[in-house]
Amino acid sequence: MPQIVVLPHVELCPEGAVLEVAPGTSVCRALLDNHIEIEHACELSCACTTCHVIVREGFESLTPAEDEEEDLLDKAWGLEPTSRLSCQTLMPDDADLVVEIPKYTINHAKENH
Ligand code: FES
Repeated sequence: MPQIVVLPHVELCPEGAVLEVAPGTSVCRALLDNHIEIEHACELSCACTTCHVIVREGFESLTPAEDEEEDLLDKAWGLEPTSRLSCQTLMPDDADLVVEIPKYTINHAKENH
């Protein structure tokens, strides 16, 4: 099964992690299923930017982002050329990924509390 290597994130995954993930599973779902509580304010429906990840390896093996995802990503904190919304990023059949969870997200709902 392909793997996602999650780089260490101070709060969500201090040690980093290696996840076995079935092809076609979204990266966000895989993280959540493995108790890495990435924010997902819109419940994986491509309507926020809180599930933003940076794909450090394997980016070219992914299905390209739709326009909707690209538009949202433009608003994400710390955007990089290999940024994706993890709920819209499906695990490829035969490639591993290395992902980094950015330090911050833009979560307007949370900021208002
Ligand atoms: S959880 Fe909102 S876009 Fe992914």
